[in-house]
Amino acid sequence: MCGIVAYIGTRDAYPILIEGLRRLEYRGYDSAGVALWNTSLNVYKTKGKVSDLEEYVKNADLAGNIGIAHTRWATHGEPNQVNAHPHYSQSKEIALIHNGIIENYAPLRKELELRGYVFRSSTDTEVLTNLIEDIKHNGGVDLFEAVRIALNQVVGAYAIVVMSQSDPDSLIAARKGSPLLIGIGKDDYFVASDATPIISYTKNVVYLDDEEIALIRRNKDLKIKTIRNKEKTPYVHQLETNLSVLEKGGFEHFMLKEIYEQPSSIRDSMRGRIHLELGTVTLGGIIDYEQKLLNASRIIIIACGTSWHAGLVGEYLFEDIARIPVEVEYASEFRYRNPVIYEKDVVIAISQSGETADTLAAIELAKSKGATILGICNVVGSSIARATHAGSYTHAGPEIGVASTKAFTAQVTLLTLMALRMAQLRGTLGRSRFMQILTELDMIPEKVERTLKVSQRVIEIAEQFKDVRNFLYLGRGYNFPVALEGALKLKEISYIHAEGYPAAEMKHGPIALIDEEMPVVVIATNKGTYDKVVSNIQEVKARKGKVIAIVTEGDVDVKNLADYVIEIPETEEMLVPLLATIPLQKLAYHIAVMRGCNVDQPRNLAKSVTVE
Ligand code: AGP
Repeated sequence: MCGIVAYIGTRDAYPILIEGLRRLEYRGYDSAGVALWNTSLNVYKTKGKVSDLEEYVKNADLAGNIGIAHTRWATHGEPNQVNAHPHYSQSKEIALIHNGIIENYAPLRKELELRGYVFRSSTDTEVLTNLIEDIKHNGGVDLFEAVRIALNQVVGAYAIVVMSQSDPDSLIAARKGSPLLIGIGKDDYFVASDATPIISYTKNVVYLDDEEIALIRRNKDLKIKTIRNKEKTPYVHQLETNLSVLEKGGFEHFMLKEIYEQPSSIRDSMRGRIHLELGTVTLGGIIDYEQKLLNASRIIIIACGTSWHAGLVGEYLFEDIARIPVEVEYASEFRYRNPVIYEKDVVIAISQSGETADTLAAIELAKSKGATILGICNVVGSSIARATHAGSYTHAGPEIGVASTKAFTAQVTLLTLMALRMAQLRGTLGRSRFMQILTELDMIPEKVERTLKVSQRVIEIAEQFKDVRNFLYLGRGYNFPVALEGALKLKEISYIHAEGYPAAEMKHGPIALIDEEMPVVVIATNKGTYDKVVSNIQEVKARKGKVIAIVTEGDVDVKNLADYVIEIPETEEMLVPLLATIPLQKLAYHIAVMRGCNVDQPRNLAKSVTVE
């Protein structure tokens, strides 16, 4: 996600801002920029890294003791200089930096264009900047009031800092859904997305709450109110931690932080795409290709690794509710096996990094045969995103841990939305059933939150099995891809051999492996095939295997059979992957930590496999 740093006080702003951006680099970004005021308001920004920004400004006038700075993780608009922050308003009176997603930026932009505003970028942020200017100029109010009024018209998430040409003694900060805190120095103020750019200057911080806006003035007390104009008293916290812990948000590893980000990353992947009151799903990125999907002879999903497992969930979803034939292909196999590809085929390429070489090559092959290519990527403007005809971004935020976690659940969420949209258009789901699933999907982030709370049980199981040499993961139906994903998580970070299998396949070979040394994880939440899964568990028990079962809250039969049980909340069968995967991610994480493995950078692995 984007990084925000701002400063106002008696010191030179630029060195503080650029060092602050360096402290935020861990968050992942694709462009950087800074705005300074020294008799005039100047914005300097560039695509690339903080070091590229430093190179870019080396001959610029960097004086001034007020400024704002930003590292951008693109959500709307390609990573390039025009789309980088800070954004000027049309008259260049205002400069603004933003972390978040303005969902209603399109109608706001249309309205501003009708009033004569011409936009330089394709970002949602520039829309907010011009909206503030428009209110200030036409409403005859000061900047603080203009920002407050503008934020009442915004739908979505934001953390912003605003400065202006005409008032070099004030910064305005506001947040909703994206964190923002204000550091209070001896005679200066700092604003940042987290404490890392602030902690070396002061430990006194005020955390803005959702829908709060702050007026930060040189040598004056902080003034905070809600965007509904209610005065708030700033509460000053004492920071009690160090830099390295802060970068991981207080977690020991990025992987654990990203596991715990899933309620918000799943919410972000649905943001602006689920409309319960209208009873529909909107996927803006592929809206022009819905007809292609409707007329598709089949969908071919291509991906690698965890993204391939998400694709397998996608196959079950599309065939189950939209009745569209689907094939899921390992990109590395697809690209070389001389596959049959028709012009009426629609290919969905899934990739967190958007840079996986095999997936990119498979896309080019399918494109050369005339197929339509849609993408599901997490990195905006990545090679795969640019190679597709259209696509939807998962908006899961940067995933730093090599083992993919939040990207997987965001991919599955996107595929669920696509399948629901196709089912609605094809009429393969009745309206009430459609609404039932959509309503349940909207509640998933809260159920993930509840699932994350089950920690002690997972740690006990990890302690019990951290030294075994093999694991087996079993699942049926929607839970078969979950079994594969759980096995991959364990093997790639703990180096224990683990295999995922369809539970019914056990009798065709793997059952020979079962003995008291072989823990077997069974995802046993099924409704339709529950009895079959129970008998699979009995088969394992009969051979002295140890069973670790993932069950639905209130389960009885499996609980009486299994050696260890982890409960997850009740949900629609097709949505279970979004919940059942969570304890398996945590189990793999805790076993790996107990084995002293390098969880965030496992041996032999790279976060993005950009070579064959
Ligand atoms: C998953 O934990 C692994 N890191 C790996 O399998 C990964 O999913 C695979 O390399 C695909 O990467 P992509 O999603 O960036 O294309």
